[in-house]
Amino acid sequence: MKRSAKERVKKKGENQAPAISRADNPADKPGPNLSVNLEEALFCDFVGGAVGHRLRFGGGRGQALPKAAGLTKGRTPQIVDATAGFGRDAFLLASLGAEVTLIERSPEVHAMLEEGMKRAREADERIVEIISRMTLLFGDAKALLKDMSPEVVVVDPMHPARKTTALVKKEMRVLRSYVGADPDAEELMKAALSVATKRVVLKWPVKADPLENIRKPSHQIIGKSTRYDVFMTG
Ligand SMILES: C[S@@+](CC[C@H](N)C(=O)[O-])C[C@H]1O[C@@H](n2cnc3c(N)ncnc32)[C@H](O)[C@@H]1O
Repeated sequence: MKRSAKERVKKKGENQAPAISRADNPADKPGPNLSVNLEEALFCDFVGGAVGHRLRFGGGRGQALPKAAGLTKGRTPQIVDATAGFGRDAFLLASLGAEVTLIERSPEVHAMLEEGMKRAREADERIVEIISRMTLLFGDAKALLKDMSPEVVVVDPMHPARKTTALVKKEMRVLRSYVGADPDAEELMKAALSVATKRVVLKWPVKADPLENIRKPSHQIIGKSTRYDVFMTG
């Protein structure tokens, strides 16, 4: 269930990240002086946890997302992650050498990600180098993409509720509590398809229905629970 604004906006205190202000909030989410719970901000952990583990032991460019985004031995495209969230996918792509621009429209999620990137800049050299390839923007990607011409756009909207009863990971539940659903995913895909010079990658649950009014993908990379629909544009 979506949390009330009151629950989300907590008093500034020792355990919380500094309050942030957004004069202009394109996502029409709660207004200025939002505070972010530091415990939740820690989901943006690029050093330890699952992200750190994947960095140390992951399968490099052979993993599904880098493959779908077109990272090959000799090619490293320049990428826009139009749905940054907690920045995990962007971090993976940046760890493999890609320059990634991240766009996030939820002020709370943007603040958590900013905080996570700040903490990561205080980590070891390897992490600092990866984060230096990540540029975070605040706003709605449907609008911001219009002024960009990236080679690749990655789109990973909040997924429709699962058909199974399997427990959704805690990070995803936290994300959902802040941003709810992304009912404009189709419009975002159209915006991405109109600017990407090489390809658009849609990350989507294996069993979910395809997005309406979007052409068939050029190819798919199908995993256990997630699939990557790849739309070649150039
Ligand atoms: C499923 S999460 C993405 C998770 C991300 N791939 C990761 O690795 O952490 C979707 C995120 O995209 C954001 N989002 C959805 N539509 C957007 C848009 N049009 N512009 C900017 N951000 C958007 C949501 O606010 C949410 O934080």
